[in-house]
Amino acid sequence: MKCDAQTREEWSSLESLFSFARMDARNLITCFHEEMKRGLAGESSSLKMLPCFVNRPTGLEEGSFLALDLGGTNLRVLAVELDSRGGANISAVDRFIIPASVMHGRGEELFDFLADGVFLFLEKHGYNLHQHHDLAFTFSFPVEQSALNSGILLNWTKGFTASGVEGKDVVTLLAEALIRKNIKNVSVTALANDTIGTLMTKSYTDASCDMSVILGTGTNACYSENTRRIAKYTGSGDDREMIVNLEWGNFDRIEMNSYDRALDHATRNIGRQRLEKMVSGMYLGELARLIILDMIDRGCLLKKKDRQIFDRGYAITTEHLSRAAGGEDIFAQFGLENVTDYDREAAVRISHIVSKRAARIAGTAIASVITWMDAGLERHHTVAVDGSLFEKYPGFSTNMLNILQELFGDSAGKIALSTAADGSGIGAAIIAAVASGRRRQ
Ligand code: BGC
Repeated sequence: MKCDAQTREEWSSLESLFSFARMDARNLITCFHEEMKRGLAGESSSLKMLPCFVNRPTGLEEGSFLALDLGGTNLRVLAVELDSRGGANISAVDRFIIPASVMHGRGEELFDFLADGVFLFLEKHGYNLHQHHDLAFTFSFPVEQSALNSGILLNWTKGFTASGVEGKDVVTLLAEALIRKNIKNVSVTALANDTIGTLMTKSYTDASCDMSVILGTGTNACYSENTRRIAKYTGSGDDREMIVNLEWGNFDRIEMNSYDRALDHATRNIGRQRLEKMVSGMYLGELARLIILDMIDRGCLLKKKDRQIFDRGYAITTEHLSRAAGGEDIFAQFGLENVTDYDREAAVRISHIVSKRAARIAGTAIASVITWMDAGLERHHTVAVDGSLFEKYPGFSTNMLNILQELFGDSAGKIALSTAADGSGIGAAIIAAVASGRRRQ
């Protein structure tokens, strides 16, 4: 083990590599606004700013809808009932784990897997196969929509690589797969990103909700924009609102450190989703693993022979890290015995360093979108947030609030971060209801 002074230096250099100060936050906001402007104008930008052809619900929507939710390693099929009074109830839900072979195989196999999920759900819950059902498809990847029920996948994220899907209309692919399974009574009436579902869910009961954020496996946000400000929007140029999906995970005007670069280099989408790779649940564990390996190599942590336990990419997950942040011994989770107190404390410290930067970047990205909508922070904004980082990672939401406070002082009170659980299921049903026009008169 090195001497104290050397150790102190190691830590302070790690802390400064991962620091994200108020000045960095201010710069990020300026760059974010520039990228948003370019994205809305249809110019080249790391923020795609995708119009979603839907606006917020009135709260009067009603009916029963099916939702299919593909966003990470799980597929869910749900039945949702809306009561037109802000109440939404999931009456049935089935989960299927997507095998790696399907995530990385042919697109047709992936969509057959989705159609199988729908078939099993209908059968298990006794649905009448001759009665018609509307299905909303939550597809949480960057999609360029041309209508509420069609959209082209721009590129995969979150480790998906299924071939032959990028550049194709995912609603058509799903409809074709349903036909292959002989499911003729289900029509895909709406396509939505999970951010849109989350915004719909919260704004079904809270009219001041004009933005939503996902902080889970991936990260992203959407907000309510005036169609006049969407320069690339070619629909009627009247003055109404439309939700825009930022696809902020791809924001790239942010400085990467050596660990970020090493992580990026080993991904299937090098150079893309830079912000996501610094912020989201898919990657925080991996950043910590790279730091731990580096520290072992430099003789500041554990023993050299322990290295092999952490050799495999993504061996440390964000859940491990979150438990370490909550005080659990991360090394015991890997079966390591005789670990010193110093090692254990180091693991906790690493989990704080990595997650603090993530939370401060996420908070600043929220600040960017809110000040784009309301530069002087004159109105109250509810931001619906879904995802395990925000809900479960110790200290994450506090770090987000801290940076808002540093940026806006007392006016930060105008921004309320509010959990919106299961936006991707319930929200999809609300979108299907808005699309069908079914609402209490
Ligand atoms: C996707 C977004 C999605 C986010 C959260 C990102 O990887 O590109 O479309 O909203 O993950 O699920």
